[in-house]
Amino acid sequence: MANSNDRILRFHAPDKVFHTVNAITWFALLFTGVAVYFCDLAAETAEYVMLWHLILGTIFTFNLLGFIVIAPDRFALILRACLEWDRNTIYWFRNFGGYPRRFFKIPFGPVEVPPQGRYNGGQKASYLLFMGMIAALAVTGWLLWLGAPLLGKMVYMWMFYFHVWGSIIVSVLVVCAHIPLALLSMEHFKGIWRFGPGTISWEAAEHHAPIWLERDVVRTNIEK
Ligand code: HEM
Repeated sequence: MANSNDRILRFHAPDKVFHTVNAITWFALLFTGVAVYFCDLAAETAEYVMLWHLILGTIFTFNLLGFIVIAPDRFALILRACLEWDRNTIYWFRNFGGYPRRFFKIPFGPVEVPPQGRYNGGQKASYLLFMGMIAALAVTGWLLWLGAPLLGKMVYMWMFYFHVWGSIIVSVLVVCAHIPLALLSMEHFKGIWRFGPGTISWEAAEHHAPIWLERDVVRTNIEK
């Protein structure tokens, strides 16, 4: 039975490995992709950078597949938490978690933030987008690399633009929203990034995810 002196396991080893490898390869793919497409590189350099883009893309793909195959329970738990849209989730968007009021002094919506589960409304929406985009970039990447002969010219072109601009738009969201917001809770930040256990303090869980703490950790312990 959990008590308030305990630290709570939020990120299991597979979550941490998946997230870390995904984040590192994501930005490495972004830099190599942008370099080849937008910078006027010499042909030989472009070829070398593209080779690295393909190697990184292979690691990126197998990181996702590995997570799903090795830890299907964790993948399902994260996905299920993102797909649970109850009233509190919808009401989170009435004041965007109170962040506009807290950081920009904009009196947007009610003062109180409704209690949230494992993820708040904004995290659910963005993590669904991120996971969908990780899968979509992997699929379109392989098709653009090896599937070109199977695709019509128009399909290839639209897939290419989706791959380039979709990745850039989501990267802007990651850099401008996901990372700064992640830094607001050092407990969560250290929990997912450190080499040690993926635990967070009781207080952090109670503050950010009281429904998750009460229902999924204390009462049913589906987090184990
Ligand atoms: C250096 C860059 C990054 C930092 C500092 C960072 C930070 C974090 C932190 C602190 C969490 C935990 C939030 C929570 O407790 O709910 C998290 C979760 C998550 N991040 Fe990132 N992140 C980074 C890059 C990325 C990238 C590039 C993606 C994908 C495009 C991504 C996708 C996710 C997803 C899907 C989760 C939820 C996974 C889970 O709860 O196990 N992150 N991130």
